[in-house]
Amino acid sequence: MRNQLATESLFALSQPGRRGAELPEADVPVKPLNELLPTAALAIEPTGLPEVTEPDIIRHFVNLSTLNMCVDTHFYPLGSCTMKYNPKRHERLASLPGIVDLHPYQNPSDLQGMLALLYETQEMLAEISGLPAVSLQPAAGAQGEFTALLTAKAYFEDRGEKRTKVLFPNSAHGTNPASAAIAGFDCVQLASSKAGLVDLEDLKANLDDQTAVFMVTNPNTLGLFEKDIKQIADMVHEVGGLVYIDGANMNAILGYTRPGDFGGDMMHYNVHKTFTGPHGAGGPGSGPIAVRDFLSDFLPGPVIKRNENAGENGDQYTLENPPKSIGRVRTFYGNIGIVVRGYCYLRTLGAKGLKAVSENAVLNANYLKAILKDVLPVPNGDLCMHEFVASASKIKAENGVTAMDIAKRLLDFGFHAPTVYFPLVVPEAIMVEPTETESKETLDAFAETIRKILQEDPEYLHQAPHSTAISRPDEVVAARHPILQCCEPQ
Ligand SMILES: Cc1ncc(COP(=O)(O)O)c(C=O)c1O
Repeated sequence: MRNQLATESLFALSQPGRRGAELPEADVPVKPLNELLPTAALAIEPTGLPEVTEPDIIRHFVNLSTLNMCVDTHFYPLGSCTMKYNPKRHERLASLPGIVDLHPYQNPSDLQGMLALLYETQEMLAEISGLPAVSLQPAAGAQGEFTALLTAKAYFEDRGEKRTKVLFPNSAHGTNPASAAIAGFDCVQLASSKAGLVDLEDLKANLDDQTAVFMVTNPNTLGLFEKDIKQIADMVHEVGGLVYIDGANMNAILGYTRPGDFGGDMMHYNVHKTFTGPHGAGGPGSGPIAVRDFLSDFLPGPVIKRNENAGENGDQYTLENPPKSIGRVRTFYGNIGIVVRGYCYLRTLGAKGLKAVSENAVLNANYLKAILKDVLPVPNGDLCMHEFVASASKIKAENGVTAMDIAKRLLDFGFHAPTVYFPLVVPEAIMVEPTETESKETLDAFAETIRKILQEDPEYLHQAPHSTAISRPDEVVAARHPILQCCEPQ
């Protein structure tokens, strides 16, 4: 009953004349609609709304919200996507009236508190990365990559250089080549070594005076730290190129090492992962970038500056466009709601707390890897960082059970599935990222469930999940031809 109520559309529940609330006649003058709405809005044909009672609508949406798994309801070990628990205190702080009631068109003099918060966030991100100039504008990691590549392009053009190539290893997240292509670069994919790290020989063979940027995730998408990163950066710098560190996995190294210290020239953060902003389902994210000083003139504006001596109007914080800025990549100052949550996280934990976050993330991943390794072997690396990539290829060869079957069956047991089939360099990949907040009991229960699943009838597993509202949607059709329903179906 619960699932039926949620999956039926509200139009199916509609009965003529039903209302959510009956309000008394207005006893104040009411303006006619044509005086309230612009002419264009009046020209729109009303679509007709479902007629339902308040309990109908509340039950519909509350039930709908329970059909999906989320980090508040289930263990969510989605490798690479880092679904960290979102502390509720930060949600409350980000909803304070002094924050949500601001409008970006307000005069900066009226926004000094918010500008101070944004400035301090810039400063903290600069410190954590070891890269001094920060832009908070990009709205996601992928947009951060794109913004940094445009920044690099503007830098080379300013020097009269036309460099055409962006290099990345074959374990790279798909957004890396996508960002490079959209920014107008030629993409060059490099091999990985047997150990799952950048293949130095292949890098050397592809570096030349056309190399603009080498993009690398560190720790990489196999959950391994690129131990040769300093040497790699030196090699790239020798040919005049720049090193981009994809910072999506910063949660493994906070306070231990910094992209700026191991040779990176630019990086992005995923505030919605590393610093616990909520995300998922295409929701709002935040992907600030941090760059070296010599790239700061090209950053998108506005950046927030602090004036030691307050200016004429007394403002301590002002907005500035860098002199050779690539322009804006998003409206106003970025996705402020997420930045505020990140700020709260950083201030709550402080330097010591951030280090502990990384320690626990790495500990949890290694614990889970160790207790699963006899049934789910990990082809690359002895110790992992915050996540590990196991392979189900032996299981598939033995009884036909795939990574997808295991992932889908986990849903029946109340666990969100790990990431599967990424990175592409591992066959039948199962990429697990437990994150730092999970208890030993949860990790043990997850491992126990995987063992139980592997004992089950392969035929039964091919049909899993068995308890969810939808079993196995055709994901390609769902992504490419979504059927959106916002009004009465014809
Ligand atoms: C390694 C890596 N790079 C880049 C991204 C893109 O980040 P976003 O999803 O914020 O666009 C992700 C996202 O999962 C990632 O894991």
